Amino acid sequence: MCGIFGYVGKRNNAAEIVLEGLKNLEYRGYDSWGVVVEGGEGLTVEKKVGKIGEAKVSLPSSNVGLGHTRWATHGGVSVENAHPHLDCTKTLAVVHNGIVENFSKLRKELKKHEFVSETDTEVIVHLVEDLIQTKTLSEALREAFRKIVGLNAVVSLKGNQLVVARNGSPLVLGLGEGEFFVSSDASAILPHTKEVVFLEDNQAAVLDAGGIKVLDLSSGQEIRLKAQKLDWKSEQANLGQYPHFMIKEIYEQPKVIENIVKTSEKQVEELADLIQRSYGTFLVGCGTAAHAALVGQYLFSRVARRHVNFNVGSEFGYLEHFLTPKSLVLALSQSGETIDIIDSIKNAQNKGARVASLTNVLGSTLYRMSDYKILLGAGPEKSVCATKSFTAKIALLFLLSFALGGRKREGKEVLEQTLKEVKRLLREENVKAVEKLADKIKDKEHLYIVGRGLSYPVSLEAALKVKEVSYIHAEGFAGGELKHGVIALIEKGTPCVVFAPRDETYGAIISGAMEMKARGGYIIGISFEDHEVFDNWLKVEDTGDGSAVTNSVVGQLLAYFLAVKRGCDPDKPRNLAKSVTVK
Ligand code: F6R
Repeated sequence: MCGIFGYVGKRNNAAEIVLEGLKNLEYRGYDSWGVVVEGGEGLTVEKKVGKIGEAKVSLPSSNVGLGHTRWATHGGVSVENAHPHLDCTKTLAVVHNGIVENFSKLRKELKKHEFVSETDTEVIVHLVEDLIQTKTLSEALREAFRKIVGLNAVVSLKGNQLVVARNGSPLVLGLGEGEFFVSSDASAILPHTKEVVFLEDNQAAVLDAGGIKVLDLSSGQEIRLKAQKLDWKSEQANLGQYPHFMIKEIYEQPKVIENIVKTSEKQVEELADLIQRSYGTFLVGCGTAAHAALVGQYLFSRVARRHVNFNVGSEFGYLEHFLTPKSLVLALSQSGETIDIIDSIKNAQNKGARVASLTNVLGSTLYRMSDYKILLGAGPEKSVCATKSFTAKIALLFLLSFALGGRKREGKEVLEQTLKEVKRLLREENVKAVEKLADKIKDKEHLYIVGRGLSYPVSLEAALKVKEVSYIHAEGFAGGELKHGVIALIEKGTPCVVFAPRDETYGAIISGAMEMKARGGYIIGISFEDHEVFDNWLKVEDTGDGSAVTNSVVGQLLAYFLAVKRGCDPDKPRNLAKSVTVK
């Protein structure tokens, strides 16, 4: 979704620093962008539709600048609608993430101003413009912010000052040496400093060359800075030798899993204890995180014999009556900012329930709101589609279910075996086999992916990956559902991926494969051994319940190569954004 980057400090090339910052936010998904600087003789703005790519800006030297990548909500994709937006005097600039829910009403009230865009954001800049007649920028922005309804983050620039405010949409401040940063995303600040302050809801901040002051949004009272150190490495956020972040992140999975095996024991035990003591545990996530949660449900059943409830974040609110003060919601979210997850946990906390979370982003909203949290430790995930954060969540859920089942040691051993197999799958010859398969099926319109038991959510996830990066229509479904409808779609040459690990699902899934083959399906078996029904076989060694991880890696590779061979950019799928912060 939209991204914000602002700079103020000792360097005088603010425009380049901001542009670089915006490039680091590109992965979030956007359709237009803009940069503004104060060059001594007023504000100068450059705005463009499309991707930043190799763009350079020709803006004056300045020590203060502000930029934005826009993912259109109110108003189409155009230069006029791109941020920053200026007031009528062209001395004040505003960028904004979120939605101003009462913008129509405010726009009517501000009719004496000349509006040049269709955005909700422009009401903010004119509101501040009116208020600043009698107030400082900090007072005016805070008052304007209180008039807007919704979950928003706003950054304004006037003179040599940036003033920011947040409620429900993330903002991170960076503390460098003689220079200060603001961004919607900590990873964009990482190349400059690891010292960050995560702004809380209903807080504002003033940034100038002298430093940063955090203020209470209503009272204006100063709040003590609570700086934290990011433990991500700057190079983790770069492509390095890889052509795309998606493949880089697929290859990072062994390291991520290894780290979880080595470091998470104590936290896993504590969370297992929390689940043990709760009366009703609910696993929630969206998209890929929902698939991880569903894997969790199967693991809790087979390994721990523990009943948990699964739901997608956007539906969870409709089941709120199940929640009691004894419930525990275990929320899964890479970004920790997904609006449906944040709403779900607010709702749960209002009902007195406790919230635990698995998230990748230190200081994210979910992280801060949770009563108990475990960080995935996967490092920045920059590809829009989630890969390493998915397997990291499964690895943690895996250890958690074994801990709950009183089989902690066994869980660790199986995960270590799984790790070995992931490493083997990522060897050149095995990756090449997936690439060859992608070449064979890349022009197909449809792809069906089936699995049973633990492999059912794996098939949903593989289909999601294929859809979002290659735009092939892919459907994942439970193998047993074949005869209830989907088999009608199988015709000569239809590629059908079959996950057939060595577990209790093997016999039934092979029968399903035979039925699809009998209708002309081209059967791709992902299994520990070859079978006559497979037209194409990709070997995945048996790792017991670790198959949820190993089979997912094959699905990710297939999606990646399908995307590349069809000429799609896997890192920036159309219409998608990395972190879904609006409904
Ligand atoms: C798919 C994908 C999305 C996210 C979903 C939740 O590849 O990335 O489906 O998984 O938007 O995001 P988080 O985990 O940040 O809550």
